[in-house]
Amino acid sequence: MIKLGVNVDHVATIRQAREGRCPDPVLAAAAAEQGGADGITAHLREDRRHIQERDIRLLLETVQTKVNLEMASTQEMLDLACELRPSDCCLVPERRKELTTEGGLNVLDNRERIQAAVRQLSRVDIRVSLFVDPDLEQIRAAAEVKTPVVELHTGRYAAAKTPHQLKKELDKIWQAAALAQELGLIVHAGHGLDFHNVQEIAAIPGMQELNIGHAIVARAVFDGMERAVREMKRLMREAALASG
Ligand code: PXP
Repeated sequence: MIKLGVNVDHVATIRQAREGRCPDPVLAAAAAEQGGADGITAHLREDRRHIQERDIRLLLETVQTKVNLEMASTQEMLDLACELRPSDCCLVPERRKELTTEGGLNVLDNRERIQAAVRQLSRVDIRVSLFVDPDLEQIRAAAEVKTPVVELHTGRYAAAKTPHQLKKELDKIWQAAALAQELGLIVHAGHGLDFHNVQEIAAIPGMQELNIGHAIVARAVFDGMERAVREMKRLMREAALASG
């Protein structure tokens, strides 16, 4: 059944607004697991704007499902991941000024560097996922560098303003998911998914995991984390079951 990775970055965003101790993303992760999260995702950015190294270390000690460490493929981060050994790592591009991860990795033009990163992490049994746009060339390049997993960037789908645009972006994700599976890759997706747009993505054949952060944290402000996660999982399951 389709899995939900809950991204707790924005709990840390609120904490960092006062540079204090609360709300603690580690407690949020525990509540998310109570609500049925299948994993916890956190992005340790180079600028440390939300998640801190301490959060990752504590998540690794306390999370009962799995920790997916999102990070740039810099040597500093690769070495840190090899020391910390989360079960999963998602490699993303990072720009200092961006509000959030804006695009997928350019695997096509950076094959050697990314393949070396995949190799370094795989050597210590970390399952690597490459965050890529739903672009067929990028999917082929991802298979070439031997990543086991791709996470398809759903940001453009989530931001689509017209039904025509929405269909176009959804078609791209369907095609990318189909090709990735043909090439033997495990398919995840994420970015900008919320309670209104998640079902179309959860219904894509073979979709194994969605990583969702902002919408769940936003709902948790009013409903609590456990309830927000439970509702997101209900929507995902319903859509995945209906599509067979
Ligand atoms: N997946 C990846 C690779 C991301 O970079 C992000 C944002 O940190 C997410 C999923 C979650 O996106 P959102 O917070 O919009 O749900």
